[in-house]
Amino acid sequence: MTDQDHSRRTFLTRVGLGCVAATGLASIGATGRYLFPAVLYEPSMKSKIGRPSSFADGSITFLSESKIFVYKSPQGIYAISAICTHLGCVVTQTETGFSCPCHGSVFDGDGVVTRGPAPRGLPWLDVSMTPGGQLVVDRSRQVPPGTSLKV
Ligand code: FES
Repeated sequence: MTDQDHSRRTFLTRVGLGCVAATGLASIGATGRYLFPAVLYEPSMKSKIGRPSSFADGSITFLSESKIFVYKSPQGIYAISAICTHLGCVVTQTETGFSCPCHGSVFDGDGVVTRGPAPRGLPWLDVSMTPGGQLVVDRSRQVPPGTSLKV
């Protein structure tokens, strides 16, 4: 065996070990990827909106972050979504209810469509209270119109 054969053998051995190491690292990386779910965490659909005393009797309060209107009436507290059922624009409050600035839908004060193109009324949303007395609106849960939380 010559020195040239020895160095070629050493070189090929190192290349082979390098390939095995690279394959091992790639396998570990691929396996590790399965350990962590490829999930996008979205913000919670539940919003704490404060105590009932934060809302004046007979008031309609727009909460821009949650895109909801909160009503405090003699029947209780309820929330109506401010997201238009046509294409999702945020409606604005008018003297008679709500209107959508995008395509002109009009809703009455209970969220019922009085002029399209919106296909449905504004959803009423679930309102509950925590044991600590905080109101919580769950935007993922619709309730029948007229449902309110007695306070
Ligand atoms: S998004 Fe409201 S009418 Fe089109």
